[in-house]
Amino acid sequence: SRPKFVQIKEVGPRDGLQNEKKQVTTEDKIAFIDMLSDSGIKEIEYSSFVHPKWIPQLSDAYEVGKGIKRKPNVRYSALIPNMKGLELALDAGIDGASIFMSASEMHNKKNINKTISETYPVLGEVVGEAKKAGKHVTGYISTVFDCPFEGKILPEKVMEVCDHLFKAGVDDVSLGDTIGTAVPSQVEQLLEEILNRYPKERIIMHYHDTRGMAIANILTSLKYGITRFDSSVGGLGGCPYAPGAAGNVATNDVLYLLHGMGIKTGIQEGDMQKAAFFMQSKLGKTLPSKSMTYAAAQ
Ligand code: HMG
Ligand code: MG
Repeated sequence: SRPKFVQIKEVGPRDGLQNEKKQVTTEDKIAFIDMLSDSGIKEIEYSSFVHPKWIPQLSDAYEVGKGIKRKPNVRYSALIPNMKGLELALDAGIDGASIFMSASEMHNKKNINKTISETYPVLGEVVGEAKKAGKHVTGYISTVFDCPFEGKILPEKVMEVCDHLFKAGVDDVSLGDTIGTAVPSQVEQLLEEILNRYPKERIIMHYHDTRGMAIANILTSLKYGITRFDSSVGGLGGCPYAPGAAGNVATNDVLYLLHGMGIKTGIQEGDMQKAAFFMQSKLGKTLPSKSMTYAAAQ
């Protein structure tokens, strides 16, 4: 059986833009996020409160947070690595805090400059303070299938990080195929283990589309009852600390899949296309979404 409704979180303004070299102006980011807000989507990750030297594209997170027009039924979240990031984010305005770490030691070190065991207390404090401030907290786990430096990651390793994050108090966990290597059998293997221990409502799947497997992996996840996915409009982005990684699966293509199968999302495909073409024109390059390629040819 398939779910009747799927909740999509739009991560284009964060995961998408973080790896785009051409600097997008703050004004254009705000216009872009406001367009996304108009699509009927319920959650948008609008930026990152990380060190500006690590991700220069998102160094205007505070101004973006202050500038967007917030819709009351949309959860606006941001990526947060530590207490300094949380303080800035609370000041700029967030409904949700997204903390992040990796299942692999080497990716964790390259991405946030800490070992996995050094990361837990730092994130634990962020989760505690964000919950005290009444915010929704999502814990991202990167490299849940494969790591660009360590190769295959065992489900046990992912479970261990998952346990720590849930114990710290996160509301849900987003499992990242950071470098887009997974095939459906790997998704099955991980979800068998994960869903034995956690309710499916608390698990989000986050697929990058480096090898074109994301749609197949989403379909596999749906068969396991997963109803929450992260995606990026147009298929923007990648991961700056995972060489060769492509962007997230394109929101437009996920909507085509779900709506075509009769699964509701509450999101207007036309509004998403509009936002995608807007950002494509600002970046001056063709975005990978297949539905955009098709629309542009008509
Ligand atoms: P660090 O250098 O170890 O930090 O970086 P530190 O705590 O030692 O502090 C060094 C300096 O940075 C200090 O300044 C701090 O104040 C400052 P100084 O005293 O030297 O002048 N600092 C900050 N400034 C602004 N905002 C902050 C902040 N924190 C410290 N939040 C750190 C550690 C985590 C900060 C750094 O490694 C970092 O910013 N990393 C971010 C990397 C990143 O954004 N990666 C991409 C996102 S993750 C992703 O895309 C995966 C995901 O999509 C899921 C998937 O696909 O798998 C989520
Ligand atoms: Mg990602």
